[in-house]
Amino acid sequence: MRTITLKTTVTVFETIEELPEAVKLLMHAAIEARKNAYAPYSKFSVGAALIMENDEIITGNNQENASYPSGLCAERVAIYYAGAKYPHRKVKAIAISATSDKNKVNVPIPPCGSCRQAIAEYEVKQKSPITIYFMGETGNVMKVDALKDLLPLLFEKSFLT
Ligand code: THU
Repeated sequence: MRTITLKTTVTVFETIEELPEAVKLLMHAAIEARKNAYAPYSKFSVGAALIMENDEIITGNNQENASYPSGLCAERVAIYYAGAKYPHRKVKAIAISATSDKNKVNVPIPPCGSCRQAIAEYEVKQKSPITIYFMGETGNVMKVDALKDLLPLLFEKSFLT
């Protein structure tokens, strides 16, 4: 028997103001996108903005449904749209911001497990890491250099061959 220790490095920025200028713009795009979320059930609005290799920014937000599981998270709305529209263009980074009508979200909100799996698919597909920045409405912004830092031991297409 042996033990493997998996390590993840997360960079923490005090506030959005501490981000490099280009990332700040990306986060502001996520914040703007968040305002168009359709979240009448959870009252929890999420915006995601991704920047592609040609610096085009694509945004998405959560879209809920009266049949709850039929809704989709912001991150997947954005990355599936990018994959559908530009199947050969790489994604460099994704910024995520979340807020709630019920309370102030002042902690960073990471992508859920299903979104991690979805983003991982594109990281494997494009053979290069996707940087993820995530925050609440205010407060710290967290950064990981690759999606796989949030999802070690991921299930990916090489297992299907
Ligand atoms: N949500 C996202 O948009 N992204 C996540 O990573 C986590 C959760 C949405 C889904 C649902 O509309 C609401 O937040 C509450 O779960």
